[in-house]
Amino acid sequence: MTDQDRLGERFRVATEAIREAGARGLHFFRNRDELDITSKGVQDTVSNADRELEAMIRGRLEAAFPNDAFFGEESGRGEGDLENGIWVVDPIDGTDCFVHSIPVWCVSIAFLVGKDVEIGLIYDPNADELFAARRGHGATVNGVPMKVAEATSFRDGLFSIGYSMRRPYGGTVDIFERLLAEDAMFQRNGSGALALAYVAAGRYIGYYEAHINSWDCLAAIGLIREAGGWTNDFLAGDGLFSGNVIAACAAGLEGPMREVCRLG
Ligand code: IPD
Ligand code: CA
Repeated sequence: MTDQDRLGERFRVATEAIREAGARGLHFFRNRDELDITSKGVQDTVSNADRELEAMIRGRLEAAFPNDAFFGEESGRGEGDLENGIWVVDPIDGTDCFVHSIPVWCVSIAFLVGKDVEIGLIYDPNADELFAARRGHGATVNGVPMKVAEATSFRDGLFSIGYSMRRPYGGTVDIFERLLAEDAMFQRNGSGALALAYVAAGRYIGYYEAHINSWDCLAAIGLIREAGGWTNDFLAGDGLFSGNVIAACAAGLEGPMREVCRLG
Protein backbone atom coordinates (compact mmCIF):
# COMPACT_ATOMS: atom_id res chain seq x y z
CA MET A 1 0.00 0.00 0.00
CA THR A 2 1.38 3.45 -0.92
CA ASP A 3 1.14 6.53 1.34
CA GLN A 4 -1.56 7.85 -1.02
CA ASP A 5 -3.55 4.61 -0.61
CA ARG A 6 -3.26 4.91 3.16
CA LEU A 7 -4.49 8.52 3.02
CA GLY A 8 -7.32 7.47 0.72
CA GLU A 9 -8.37 4.88 3.28
CA ARG A 10 -8.27 7.47 6.07
CA PHE A 11 -10.34 9.83 3.95
CA ARG A 12 -12.94 7.10 3.38
CA VAL A 13 -13.21 6.11 7.06
CA ALA A 14 -13.29 9.73 8.25
CA THR A 15 -16.01 10.58 5.71
CA GLU A 16 -18.17 7.75 7.03
CA ALA A 17 -17.47 8.80 10.62
CA ILE A 18 -18.37 12.44 10.03
CA ARG A 19 -21.65 11.59 8.31
CA GLU A 20 -22.57 9.17 11.09
CA ALA A 21 -21.72 11.71 13.79
CA GLY A 22 -23.64 14.42 11.94
CA ALA A 23 -26.75 12.26 11.77
CA ARG A 24 -26.55 11.55 15.49
CA GLY A 25 -26.01 15.25 16.19
CA LEU A 26 -29.10 16.09 14.16
CA HIS A 27 -31.10 13.61 16.24
CA PHE A 28 -30.04 15.43 19.44
CA PHE A 29 -30.72 18.81 17.82
CA ARG A 30 -34.27 17.75 17.04
CA ASN A 31 -34.81 16.13 20.45
CA ARG A 32 -33.77 18.78 22.93
CA ASP A 33 -35.24 16.82 25.83
CA GLU A 34 -32.32 14.38 25.40
CA LEU A 35 -29.77 17.17 25.87
CA ASP A 36 -27.91 17.70 29.13
CA ILE A 37 -26.27 21.13 28.89
CA THR A 38 -23.51 22.31 31.22
CA SER A 39 -21.15 25.27 31.32
CA LYS A 40 -17.38 25.01 30.76
CA GLY A 41 -16.94 28.72 31.55
CA VAL A 42 -18.31 32.14 30.65
CA GLN A 43 -20.18 31.87 27.30
CA ASP A 44 -18.80 28.35 26.83
CA THR A 45 -21.26 25.47 26.91
CA VAL A 46 -21.04 21.73 26.34
CA SER A 47 -23.64 18.98 26.17
CA ASN A 48 -23.83 15.21 26.27
CA ALA A 49 -24.22 15.38 22.47
CA ASP A 50 -20.73 16.93 22.07
CA ARG A 51 -19.22 14.16 24.21
CA GLU A 52 -21.11 11.31 22.57
CA LEU A 53 -20.28 12.45 19.04
CA GLU A 54 -16.59 12.83 19.85
CA ALA A 55 -16.51 9.37 21.42
CA MET A 56 -18.16 7.93 18.26
CA ILE A 57 -15.65 9.58 15.95
CA ARG A 58 -12.66 8.80 18.13
CA GLY A 59 -13.73 5.15 18.54
CA ARG A 60 -14.02 4.68 14.78
CA LEU A 61 -10.72 6.39 13.96
CA GLU A 62 -8.76 4.66 16.72
CA ALA A 63 -10.17 1.25 15.73
CA ALA A 64 -9.15 1.76 12.10
CA PHE A 65 -5.85 3.58 12.68
CA PRO A 66 -4.64 2.68 16.19
CA ASN A 67 -1.19 4.23 15.73
CA ASP A 68 -2.42 7.67 14.69
CA ALA A 69 -2.44 10.45 17.27
CA PHE A 70 -5.72 12.12 18.27
CA PHE A 71 -6.71 15.53 19.65
CA GLY A 72 -10.34 16.42 20.27
CA GLU A 73 -12.16 19.36 21.87
CA GLU A 74 -13.93 17.23 24.46
CA SER A 75 -11.56 14.33 25.20
CA GLY A 76 -8.15 15.91 24.59
CA ARG A 77 -5.06 14.03 23.37
CA GLY A 78 -4.72 10.31 22.71
CA GLU A 79 -1.74 7.99 23.03
CA GLY A 80 -0.88 7.63 19.32
CA ASP A 81 2.40 8.77 17.79
CA LEU A 82 2.40 12.30 16.33
CA GLU A 83 4.88 11.05 13.70
CA ASN A 84 2.09 9.01 12.08
CA GLY A 85 -0.14 12.04 11.82
CA ILE A 86 -2.83 13.40 14.13
CA TRP A 87 -6.61 13.53 13.88
CA VAL A 88 -7.98 16.85 15.12
CA VAL A 89 -11.70 16.75 15.86
CA ASP A 90 -14.48 19.10 16.89
CA PRO A 91 -17.65 17.02 17.34
CA ILE A 92 -19.96 20.05 17.34
CA ASP A 93 -18.62 23.42 16.32
CA GLY A 94 -21.17 26.11 17.05
CA THR A 95 -22.23 24.55 20.36
CA ASP A 96 -23.97 27.73 21.47
CA CYS A 97 -26.08 27.72 18.30
CA PHE A 98 -26.71 24.01 18.82
CA VAL A 99 -28.02 24.38 22.37
CA HIS A 100 -30.13 27.41 21.45
CA SER A 101 -31.83 25.63 18.51
CA ILE A 102 -30.07 27.66 15.84
CA PRO A 103 -29.23 25.42 12.86
CA VAL A 104 -25.67 26.70 12.42
CA TRP A 105 -23.26 24.05 13.65
CA CYS A 106 -21.11 21.37 12.09
CA VAL A 107 -18.75 18.47 12.70
CA SER A 108 -15.09 18.98 11.83
CA ILE A 109 -12.33 16.40 11.27
CA ALA A 110 -8.77 17.12 10.10
CA PHE A 111 -5.82 14.80 9.59
CA LEU A 112 -2.50 16.56 9.93
CA VAL A 113 0.94 15.16 9.04
CA GLY A 114 3.80 17.45 10.04
CA LYS A 115 2.54 20.89 8.98
CA ASP A 116 0.33 19.60 6.17
CA VAL A 117 -3.43 19.21 6.50
CA GLU A 118 -3.79 16.01 4.46
CA ILE A 119 -7.54 15.67 5.02
CA GLY A 120 -10.09 18.36 5.85
CA LEU A 121 -13.75 17.45 6.38
CA ILE A 122 -16.58 19.64 7.62
CA TYR A 123 -20.16 18.36 7.67
CA ASP A 124 -23.20 20.57 8.16
CA PRO A 125 -26.06 18.15 8.87
CA ASN A 126 -28.79 20.81 8.73
CA ALA A 127 -27.92 21.69 5.14
CA ASP A 128 -26.62 18.17 4.40
CA GLU A 129 -23.42 19.73 3.04
CA LEU A 130 -20.12 17.90 3.21
CA PHE A 131 -17.07 20.07 2.58
CA ALA A 132 -14.12 17.82 1.81
CA ALA A 133 -10.49 18.21 0.81
CA ARG A 134 -7.44 16.03 0.37
CA ARG A 135 -4.11 17.79 -0.07
CA GLY A 136 -3.27 17.95 -3.76
CA HIS A 137 -6.68 16.64 -4.82
CA GLY A 138 -8.77 19.83 -4.57
CA ALA A 139 -11.78 20.70 -2.43
CA THR A 140 -15.44 19.88 -2.96
CA VAL A 141 -18.84 20.52 -1.45
CA ASN A 142 -21.12 17.51 -1.88
CA GLY A 143 -18.73 16.30 -4.57
CA VAL A 144 -18.78 19.55 -6.58
CA PRO A 145 -15.38 21.32 -6.85
CA MET A 146 -15.25 24.59 -4.92
CA LYS A 147 -12.96 27.58 -5.00
CA VAL A 148 -12.51 30.76 -3.02
CA ALA A 149 -14.06 34.08 -4.09
CA GLU A 150 -12.46 36.38 -6.68
CA ALA A 151 -12.37 39.27 -4.16
CA THR A 152 -9.52 41.76 -4.12
CA SER A 153 -11.05 44.31 -1.74
CA PHE A 154 -13.25 44.16 1.37
CA ARG A 155 -16.02 45.70 -0.76
CA ASP A 156 -16.24 42.54 -2.86
CA GLY A 157 -18.37 40.34 -0.56
CA LEU A 158 -19.22 39.33 2.99
CA PHE A 159 -16.55 39.04 5.65
CA SER A 160 -16.90 36.96 8.81
CA ILE A 161 -15.31 37.67 12.16
CA GLY A 162 -15.33 35.45 15.23
CA TYR A 163 -14.85 36.27 18.88
CA SER A 164 -14.45 34.41 22.15
CA MET A 165 -13.59 35.26 25.76
CA ARG A 166 -10.10 33.81 25.25
CA ARG A 167 -8.70 37.20 24.18
CA PRO A 168 -9.48 40.74 25.39
CA TYR A 169 -12.14 42.27 23.13
CA GLY A 170 -10.17 45.45 22.41
CA GLY A 171 -8.06 43.90 19.64
CA THR A 172 -11.17 42.64 17.84
CA VAL A 173 -12.84 46.05 18.18
CA ASP A 174 -9.78 47.67 16.54
CA ILE A 175 -9.98 45.24 13.61
CA PHE A 176 -13.72 45.85 13.30
CA GLU A 177 -13.05 49.58 13.02
CA ARG A 178 -10.45 49.11 10.31
CA LEU A 179 -12.72 46.71 8.40
CA LEU A 180 -15.66 49.09 8.54
CA ALA A 181 -13.40 51.89 7.33
CA GLU A 182 -12.67 49.67 4.28
CA ASP A 183 -16.44 49.33 3.58
CA ALA A 184 -16.48 45.68 4.70
CA MET A 185 -19.82 44.00 5.41
CA PHE A 186 -19.55 41.47 8.20
CA GLN A 187 -21.43 38.48 9.56
CA ARG A 188 -20.89 36.12 12.45
CA ASN A 189 -22.72 32.84 12.15
CA GLY A 190 -21.54 31.31 15.47
CA SER A 191 -19.49 28.42 14.06
CA GLY A 192 -15.89 29.28 13.22
CA ALA A 193 -15.42 25.98 11.35
CA LEU A 194 -18.50 26.50 9.18
CA ALA A 195 -17.66 30.14 8.49
CA LEU A 196 -14.19 29.08 7.37
CA ALA A 197 -15.69 26.36 5.16
CA TYR A 198 -17.74 29.15 3.58
CA VAL A 199 -14.50 30.98 2.79
CA ALA A 200 -13.33 27.86 0.93
CA ALA A 201 -16.66 27.74 -0.92
CA GLY A 202 -16.40 31.41 -1.96
CA ARG A 203 -19.45 32.42 0.13
CA TYR A 204 -17.44 34.60 2.51
CA ILE A 205 -14.41 36.48 1.23
CA GLY A 206 -12.53 36.06 4.51
CA TYR A 207 -12.54 35.23 8.22
CA TYR A 208 -10.64 36.58 11.21
CA GLU A 209 -10.55 35.58 14.86
CA ALA A 210 -7.97 36.70 17.42
CA HIS A 211 -7.74 33.20 18.92
CA ILE A 212 -9.17 29.92 17.74
CA ASN A 213 -8.38 26.33 18.62
CA SER A 214 -7.02 23.84 16.10
CA TRP A 215 -10.15 21.67 16.30
CA ASP A 216 -12.17 24.69 15.10
CA CYS A 217 -10.06 25.54 12.08
CA LEU A 218 -7.60 22.89 10.86
CA ALA A 219 -10.06 21.03 8.62
CA ALA A 220 -11.11 24.36 7.14
CA ILE A 221 -7.49 25.39 6.57
CA GLY A 222 -7.14 22.23 4.46
CA LEU A 223 -10.30 23.17 2.54
CA ILE A 224 -9.24 26.78 1.97
CA ARG A 225 -5.76 25.88 0.73
CA GLU A 226 -7.18 23.30 -1.70
CA ALA A 227 -9.79 25.84 -2.85
CA GLY A 228 -6.98 28.28 -3.74
CA GLY A 229 -7.26 30.60 -0.73
CA TRP A 230 -4.78 32.09 1.73
CA THR A 231 -4.39 31.51 5.47
CA ASN A 232 -1.86 32.73 8.00
CA ASP A 233 0.59 30.24 9.53
CA PHE A 234 -1.87 29.03 12.16
CA LEU A 235 0.43 26.22 13.32
CA ALA A 236 3.27 28.64 14.19
CA GLY A 237 4.50 28.18 17.75
CA ASP A 238 2.18 25.81 19.62
CA GLY A 239 -0.86 26.55 17.42
CA LEU A 240 -1.82 22.88 17.27
CA PHE A 241 -2.29 22.41 21.01
CA SER A 242 -2.76 25.98 22.28
CA GLY A 243 -4.56 27.67 19.37
CA ASN A 244 -3.58 30.86 17.57
CA VAL A 245 -4.89 33.80 15.59
CA ILE A 246 -6.63 32.76 12.38
CA ALA A 247 -6.85 34.87 9.25
CA ALA A 248 -8.10 33.33 6.02
CA CYS A 249 -9.35 34.81 2.76
CA ALA A 250 -9.63 34.73 -1.00
CA ALA A 251 -6.15 34.74 -2.55
CA GLY A 252 -6.63 38.24 -4.00
CA LEU A 253 -7.42 39.67 -0.57
CA GLU A 254 -4.21 38.58 1.15
CA GLY A 255 -2.57 42.04 1.01
CA PRO A 256 -5.52 44.03 2.43
CA MET A 257 -6.10 41.26 4.97
CA ARG A 258 -2.53 41.39 6.28
CA GLU A 259 -2.83 45.16 6.54
CA VAL A 260 -6.19 45.29 8.35
CA CYS A 261 -5.33 42.39 10.67
CA ARG A 262 -1.80 43.74 11.28
CA LEU A 263 -0.22 40.43 10.27
CA GLY A 264 2.94 41.88 8.74
C1 IPD B 1 -16.53 28.19 19.04
C2 IPD B 1 -17.15 28.61 17.74
C3 IPD B 1 -17.14 30.12 17.62
C4 IPD B 1 -15.73 30.66 17.67
C5 IPD B 1 -15.05 30.20 18.97
C6 IPD B 1 -15.12 28.69 19.12
P1 IPD B 1 -17.58 25.89 19.96
O1 IPD B 1 -16.47 26.77 19.15
O2 IPD B 1 -16.45 28.10 16.63
O3 IPD B 1 -17.71 30.52 16.39
O4 IPD B 1 -15.78 32.05 17.63
O5 IPD B 1 -13.69 30.59 18.94
O6 IPD B 1 -14.57 28.34 20.38
O7 IPD B 1 -17.50 26.32 21.37
O8 IPD B 1 -18.88 26.23 19.34
O9 IPD B 1 -17.14 24.49 19.72
CA1 CA C 1 -15.49 24.50 18.38
